[in-house]
Amino acid sequence: MSTRITSFEEYKTVYSESVKNPEKFWVSVAGEYYWRRKWDEVLKWNFSEPDVKWFTGGKLNITENCLDRHLESRAKQTALIWEPNNPDEKGRTFTYRELYHEVCRFANMLRHHGVKKGDRVCIYMGMVPELAIALLGCARIGAIHSVVFGGFSFNSLADRINDAECCMVITADGAFRGAKDIPLKNVVDDALKNCPSVKKVIVLKRTGSDVRMQPGRDFWCHEEINNTHHDCHPEVMDAEDMLFILYTSGSTGKPKGVVHTTAGYMVFADYTFRNVFQYNDGDIYWCTADIGWVTGHTYLVYGPLLAGATTLMFEGIPTWPDAGRFWKIVDKYKVNIIYTAPTAIRSLQAMGLEYVKPYKLDSLRVLGTVGEPINEEAWHWYNDNIGKKRCPIVDTWWQTETGGILITPLAGITPLKPSFATLPFPGIQPAIVDENGKELSGNNVEGRLCIKFPWPGMIRTTYRNHARCRENYFEQYKGYYFTGDGCKRDENGFYRITGRVDDVIKVSGHLLGTAEVENAINQHPDIVESAVVGFPHAIKGWGIYAFVIPERERSDKEKLKKEISDTVTKFMGSIGRPDKIQIVRGLPKTRSGKIMRRILRKIAEGDTSNLGDTTTLLDPSVVDEIKAGAL
Ligand code: WT7
Repeated sequence: MSTRITSFEEYKTVYSESVKNPEKFWVSVAGEYYWRRKWDEVLKWNFSEPDVKWFTGGKLNITENCLDRHLESRAKQTALIWEPNNPDEKGRTFTYRELYHEVCRFANMLRHHGVKKGDRVCIYMGMVPELAIALLGCARIGAIHSVVFGGFSFNSLADRINDAECCMVITADGAFRGAKDIPLKNVVDDALKNCPSVKKVIVLKRTGSDVRMQPGRDFWCHEEINNTHHDCHPEVMDAEDMLFILYTSGSTGKPKGVVHTTAGYMVFADYTFRNVFQYNDGDIYWCTADIGWVTGHTYLVYGPLLAGATTLMFEGIPTWPDAGRFWKIVDKYKVNIIYTAPTAIRSLQAMGLEYVKPYKLDSLRVLGTVGEPINEEAWHWYNDNIGKKRCPIVDTWWQTETGGILITPLAGITPLKPSFATLPFPGIQPAIVDENGKELSGNNVEGRLCIKFPWPGMIRTTYRNHARCRENYFEQYKGYYFTGDGCKRDENGFYRITGRVDDVIKVSGHLLGTAEVENAINQHPDIVESAVVGFPHAIKGWGIYAFVIPERERSDKEKLKKEISDTVTKFMGSIGRPDKIQIVRGLPKTRSGKIMRRILRKIAEGDTSNLGDTTTLLDPSVVDEIKAGAL
């Protein structure tokens, strides 16, 4: 494939052209695909609605571009490598031709079960090849997939299924993750007690654990797929037809269904993948993210397959059976490019170098990180011990809403600066604004990060609630897409993302709404009210600190805390479990009843020397009490 930037000089030229004439630039990228019909208009946009459309009138199917298009030249090339949780179990590989047939059969099965273009299908699985196949199977027939991370529990799953009114759930009997066996189907059963839209459940057999199959609703995947044909006519989609919904946390309790559409997402996923990682034909590429998150969608499945790459998928976790597992996999498959999260790097760093030493790691050429700011210490550990100082680190900044990477080095091309995401990708026009929405021009500035011009992979709406999309991203600073992140631009114009400026926290790279965790805590019958804030955590980046008010004084405080923790796990999933729980009598509230989180944040951070103005509080004495009991 031709369009790849190969030098820093070229980056600068391409970037400035992409800003001067964005439409011409994106057309030069979009010509490479298999279009059933070319577009009539490249871009229509208006950030106040918002209304953004790319390649209007174009017709295509993304799976024809991921699979069929490669059959001529890459049929026998490995498309997907799968490494199971247990290192003693045999892995699986799929050539492009094999993957094509698997996807077609899966798609035919979905059609056979009545799934049609535009229907929403929820996918709730572990990291098995059938998960990737399910995504592509949906896309083949024009169904909109909504993947829910397998670590979420029944209530979070039910909320997401209901919001999207899914007609089907694709799941598995269970999932292996380290020493654990997660009972996915049981969680689905619990969720479906309150999901009237779901008519069918397809169940993959993976762990062999006991499950209850409801006749007429639940079907075993292997039985249903048995007689399906290995070719499948793709649904011809409009450029702006929905491809998928992916839920992300917001500052209110309810997660938002971020909507991505077909053509723009496709062009952006592929072009960013090839350029950021500088993928060469024959490279083995490994993204360690779960497909339950956007990173897995764009840079494990769609981006690599669009580029005709070999993509590796791992079922397990970095620390099982021991903390050398990642490096064992790198050596086993001779991985050339690895893309992982700062939290994983920090946790492996903490385990010590003895887990790294047995491995050669000499196949590695490019290292990537994503999900949260990478601190300098972790950056150097990664650079010294994994990359052996010879692999560029691409610190890629982006979001579920952006569809793909926006601010990033290009591997081996852009000069690096630890903890900086460096420069905008071609076509991306960042702006740093002050609190009043005034753009801060020039270098050496700090403020809030916005984007002032559309890019093909951007969010189109939040599912069934367009107003929420507008309010969340386009209203705070008029004329801009607001990211929710703080940001600095240094003297050379390099960007450093400093973290969230809203009521969401990044815990181990996962975005969590504080209100979402509070809702889960409040499910405990003895809790009257709670407030959740983040605090800096050495491994997770941010930890969860919960202040809770019990209905009555309980002497068994530790037992109550354990119950709260279990309640959150059961109701929401273990990713919401608080690291610290402080039992309090009251919360710092203003006279109008608003919790002053600023004060709680300071206390959680252990910085109580200057709590700022507390005179507007209804009862300032609660602050002293909370301070005295801080953990
Ligand atoms: C938030 C988006 C992007 C895919 C996975 C996360 C933070 C992400 C970086 C980075 C600093 C980063 C931001 C962003 N973030 N990458 N390289 N440096 N911060 O997607 O769950 O939608 O989270 O992750 O705060 O807003 P997400």
